[in-house]
Amino acid sequence: MSRPDKFIVDGKRLDGRLPDQLRPIKIEVDVLKRADGSCYIEMGKNKVVAAVYGPREAFPRHIQDPSKVVVRYRYNMAPFSVEERKRPGPDRRSVEISKVSKEAFETIIMKELFPRSVVDIFVEVLQADAGSRTACINAASVALVDAGIPVKGMLTSVAVAKVDGTLVLDPMKEEDNFGDADMPFAFLIRGGKIESIALLQMDGRMTKAEIKDAIALAKKGAMEIYNLQREAIMKQFVEEEE
Ligand code: CDP
Repeated sequence: MSRPDKFIVDGKRLDGRLPDQLRPIKIEVDVLKRADGSCYIEMGKNKVVAAVYGPREAFPRHIQDPSKVVVRYRYNMAPFSVEERKRPGPDRRSVEISKVSKEAFETIIMKELFPRSVVDIFVEVLQADAGSRTACINAASVALVDAGIPVKGMLTSVAVAKVDGTLVLDPMKEEDNFGDADMPFAFLIRGGKIESIALLQMDGRMTKAEIKDAIALAKKGAMEIYNLQREAIMKQFVEEEE
């Protein structure tokens, strides 16, 4: 992949989207029978699956916390998920993504309800095209609800990038790789309202005004994704009742 000369032509991006438009999203709930909760999400060309187990007794014992549940999050990329085969197993990038995502989920899970227990969140990237960490957080969030784990709200994640001096929502690979800045967010959404930011990362450069605008753009995108997450969960519960 080489750097495009221009990222925006006649107001449209390389894939035809407007700057404030998300990629198409598909969400399926309860796709894995062995997990307590699961979810498959496509965000553009990203394809990810999340599996949630627990709360269950934390093992090995020394990781138990007598006052609250322990949350574990493992982000993993399949070797075939990227252009150049990825060596299997954890690397610095996946360890970092797992850490920040885990910390975001720790803010929404009602941890005190399950002392000495663990909640395991596994996310597997089957196909990546920038924003895989955001797709994984969105899938994990739905899988947590599917598992019936008490949460304070939904975590909804989306990134904003800067290309040709313009902020764009939900960047695809070219924008992420060759753009001037990339800022992934995860918001805690409760009762249909964005309550707080649970994850915020950034590389590249943005002015103060651009950061403000990026937050507003990310919030708009997150609300759209949240509605789809909610819809997928509601559909699942209706189907279960039938
Ligand atoms: O996927 P995300 O945007 O959350 O993380 P990133 O580190 O910004 O990676 C951006 C994209 O680079 C990924 O989504 C993949 O498409 C690609 N990538 C890759 O091709 N090979 C890797 N070993 C890691 C990432």
